[in-house]
Amino acid sequence: MNNSFVMVIFGATGNLARSKLFAALFRLFQHKQLGRHFFIVGFARRPLTDETFQQEVATMISVKRADKDDLQAFLSHVHYQQGLFEDPVGYKALITHLHRFDKIVGTRITRIFYLATPPDNYNTILDFLARTKLSKGHPEHHQKAAKEEHHVWPRIVVEKPFGKDLETAKRLDKKLSEGFPEEQIFRVDHYLGKETVQNILAFRFANNIFEPVWNKVYVDHVQITWAEKKSLSGRGKFFDGVGILRDVGQNHLMQLMAAVSMEQPESFSREGVRKPRAAAISAIQNIASHDVEKYVVRGQYDGYLSEKDVSRGSTTETFVAMKLFVNTPRFAGVPFYLRAGKKMPKNHVAISVVFRQTCHVLFREYGCPEIGNVLTFHIQPDEGITLAVVAKWPSPVLSLRPVNMDFSYQEAFGRTGMDAYEKILLDILSGDQMLFNRSDELESSWELITNILEGWKHKGSRLKTYKENNWGPKEAQELIEKDGRKWL
Ligand code: BG6
Repeated sequence: MNNSFVMVIFGATGNLARSKLFAALFRLFQHKQLGRHFFIVGFARRPLTDETFQQEVATMISVKRADKDDLQAFLSHVHYQQGLFEDPVGYKALITHLHRFDKIVGTRITRIFYLATPPDNYNTILDFLARTKLSKGHPEHHQKAAKEEHHVWPRIVVEKPFGKDLETAKRLDKKLSEGFPEEQIFRVDHYLGKETVQNILAFRFANNIFEPVWNKVYVDHVQITWAEKKSLSGRGKFFDGVGILRDVGQNHLMQLMAAVSMEQPESFSREGVRKPRAAAISAIQNIASHDVEKYVVRGQYDGYLSEKDVSRGSTTETFVAMKLFVNTPRFAGVPFYLRAGKKMPKNHVAISVVFRQTCHVLFREYGCPEIGNVLTFHIQPDEGITLAVVAKWPSPVLSLRPVNMDFSYQEAFGRTGMDAYEKILLDILSGDQMLFNRSDELESSWELITNILEGWKHKGSRLKTYKENNWGPKEAQELIEKDGRKWL
């Protein structure tokens, strides 16, 4: 990355900046990925100076003693602009900063606006970016820049949740597109940046042995589990009223599902990949709101109501399980069971593709397992792939046992993947949108999620409770067990 840039982070002292962004930027800096001239400007409400903000940023990055000098060098690129999102004064001062950076470098540099604020602030900030012409980048040179210097196009980065439902998502998208052309909009779902998620496509389409069996003839069902041991980690204000369905269901779960169900990309290019991914999400069958109880279970852990910043009597769900189908020739009729929850027994994100069992024809009385081969993509915390096969137990009598063939990133490559946010930031800097959501992709997922939310408003729809360290309410087990299957 040799182009100079300035990244303005709105909400620079908030949760996302604190837990992910600055640490990822620092690692990129250490790996010499940020170039020589770059400026990071924190834009937030509190009255801080560059120095006090730098001290705060230092607390967001954990470094070994040996890396202290790197940290100091990184912090010298960090600046602060105090401002209220709804007040022009801060934006005016920001513009002065931006001109100064251009002067230091001696050219117009790429401007990146990162909305790391609660979503309620998006509209206000987008309005101001448009009103101050910041959204146009360098307006006086924009004509020329548009043709010849696409590296100086300003970029807008928006974090999920994009809206609260289909309607608000559409409105947000309209607002975004009023200010910025599509090539400059980066809608982040950081799961797309995860090494293990990217590897699903490589695995599926670079290993010829899987493609012929990747369909309804061979696949019995697919399971996706997204489990977190922690609860809200101080994010009660954000989470309560949002819930797990919007927080991870509308985005991360849909992306994991699309990685399994999508068709082969025509090319490994931006639209080559985004097109089949969007098609896969649009092919997920919607659930009529009166059917929601049949296909979706929502739960809340005991004790949620005593969490900090959770409103009394809140019915926000902390767990969801769903049975979904995709309307494609490849997978029609194959159930996808998905579950996501907080306060689960462990941190565990994985996708299992369960193949049909056939060994009972020949080996019924010799230990043929109930389920067929299982191919599991371990997304986190373990990163790897396991294929469960059946083998003969070494003994004079015939007896079968399931065994695992394992691939672990750490063992095979001596390293795990790059952090998702490092990848996301790198792609924003280089202007590569392949791993970012298209608006039609989001609309399709919101259609499904909005129907479910509507269904939950029906009389008779009940929020189930579950104990901490459990895999959700018992109804989540029933959802799959009534089909004669089990969560793995
Ligand atoms: C975020 C959700 O998108 O993903 C959080 O808002 C969740 O609730 C987080 O904790 C998990 O991210 P990761 O990368 O740790 O799996």
